[in-house]
Amino acid sequence: MKPLFILLVSIAWTFTGAQHYYQGLMDYLENRLLAIEDRMTLWHEQSHRYHTDMKDFKKLVSEAVDGLQNEHGTLFKNLEGAAVRVDRLEREMDYVESQTSPRACADKADKVVEQEAWGLQERRGEEDEDWEEDYSRVLDCVEIISGIKSVKIVKRVGSPKGMWTRDPRTSKVYVFNGTSGDTVLQFDSARDFSRSAGVGGIISLPSEWSGPGSAVYDNYLFYVTQEAGADVQVIKYDLLTGVVTDITMFPMESHASVYKLNPEIVADLVADDEGLWLLYAASDSEPNISLAKMDAATLDIEQIWDTRCPRENAEAAFVVCGTVYVVYNTRLASRSRVQCVFDVNEVVVSEEEPLLYFPRRYGAHASLKYNAEEKQLYGWDDGYQIIYRLTMKRKLLA
Ligand SMILES: *[C@@H]1O[C@H](CO)[C@@H](O)[C@H](O)[C@H]1NC(C)=O
Ligand SMILES: *[C@@H]1O[C@H](CO)[C@@H](O)[C@H](O)[C@H]1NC(C)=O
Repeated sequence: MKPLFILLVSIAWTFTGAQHYYQGLMDYLENRLLAIEDRMTLWHEQSHRYHTDMKDFKKLVSEAVDGLQNEHGTLFKNLEGAAVRVDRLEREMDYVESQTSPRACADKADKVVEQEAWGLQERRGEEDEDWEEDYSRVLDCVEIISGIKSVKIVKRVGSPKGMWTRDPRTSKVYVFNGTSGDTVLQFDSARDFSRSAGVGGIISLPSEWSGPGSAVYDNYLFYVTQEAGADVQVIKYDLLTGVVTDITMFPMESHASVYKLNPEIVADLVADDEGLWLLYAASDSEPNISLAKMDAATLDIEQIWDTRCPRENAEAAFVVCGTVYVVYNTRLASRSRVQCVFDVNEVVVSEEEPLLYFPRRYGAHASLKYNAEEKQLYGWDDGYQIIYRLTMKRKLLA
């Protein structure tokens, strides 16, 4: 009886203990579940809020993008309007400038064509003859250099520096050997020169030419003389009669060289259909090349410009159609290039300014003389006489 009682007691005890233990476990689990549920509700709320924020933000962005697109459209339209106005303004400026600038070289056929083109665009109701006449002036000259077509090495005579040129009226060729002298060699034609041994007719001048900067036009020789202590002068010499027909003082005080790479050249003369051009340095401290337009008959100076082309590293320059092309190089001669252009009529706009490279040569150019009839340059490079043939294009006129 006694062992049974002990068994019953121990079972009852175990049963209450286990019950107690399971109850605790259940309570614990329930608490955990409640806590997890709370947290889930919180997360749910938060994610809902983020979602709403996100939606608002998206709406805002799309509104802003729409606004930007609208503004872009208006801006674009405004720009187009401005471009049209700038275009018109430029044309008006061209016209005003054409009335205040002197004329450059003339080509009758081109002039007619240009006048017609303008007539169509700008035909005015009433007849205004003065206006038309003034307007055609700027259109007289329509050529701009577009490239160097070919090079011909004609000969090698004389010293490293010098110049040669051909009279566009008579086709005679003149050779100025060295950087100064009182004689000039004359050949009847370029062919004569290339066949000769470099000895042609010798012309003795009454004074010394200074620097390879002379010009010959229609049997007149124009040269710069610079005798010690005296002022610089421009001389006009009649090659047929051997008489000096005019002398003029130089429009400057200093004896500064016009091209820093060719210091012997105090001034460079260019003679063409338009008259006489003089490229010079106004003073030693003036950094840019100056240009004077002279009357070839009287040597009167008609107008003076600052070309805004630096003298530094310049080796030569020439004038085509009222436009100055300045050729630059480096002290250790490399490739010569046209790197500055100045148009007296300001018709050549900067976008069409050519950047022309000369073919690589022996040294540097001592001189470059342009012949408008043949559209070629007569160059002197380290004693070689070279001809560069040029290709031309029409100036863009508005
Ligand atoms: C040019 O001048 C140089 C040096 O003074 C001389 O040697 C040469 O013979 C001259 N050439 C001609 C063609 O006169
Ligand atoms: C020389 O030309 C440059 C443009 O190439 C210009 O900025 C400068 O003012 C000119 N200097 C003088 C003294 O005219």
